[in-house]
Amino acid sequence: MLSPKLLKLLNAQINLEFFSSNIYLQMGAWAENEGLVGCSAFLTKHAGEEMGHMRRIWNYVLESGYMPVLGAIKEAPSKIKDVKALFEEVYTHEQQVTAKINALAQAAFEEKDMITFNFMQWFVAEQHEEEALARNILDRIKIIGLDGKGLYFIDQEAAKFAAQGAADGAAASAT
Ligand code: FEO
Repeated sequence: MLSPKLLKLLNAQINLEFFSSNIYLQMGAWAENEGLVGCSAFLTKHAGEEMGHMRRIWNYVLESGYMPVLGAIKEAPSKIKDVKALFEEVYTHEQQVTAKINALAQAAFEEKDMITFNFMQWFVAEQHEEEALARNILDRIKIIGLDGKGLYFIDQEAAKFAAQGAADGAAASAT
């Protein structure tokens, strides 16, 4: 059984994950348009993962005997200055998502809803990974820079991350 407060928070998280997916899909389109196929692959794949997060909570609400409700999802920003600004935005956004996930887990704990608290642990771990990934790319931008061939190498790095994630996903689904 979900309390009205937790149901409201879970529905809000469904919408936030949906919005996250739209943000990354839009960013992926921007990158593709700029000829950054590695960044585009990384971001587009990430958009798919966010939809997976949304579905995970959606199914949890349904399995708990409630109807998930989709709210209005705001427009994803499409004006992007450059790759550095893009990944700074990814990092900031993920930090905001982490704060919401933490608040949800804390609310479940305070209400002694250990089933929802346990359910949220997957997201807590996932946020740790997502923040680390965004920071990792930002660190590479700091080291390599965007001048000259820098942008090309950053795009190559993003392609590697996209391929790595795909390999991890394949390994996870095979187990
Ligand atoms: Fe589903 Fe990137 O948070």
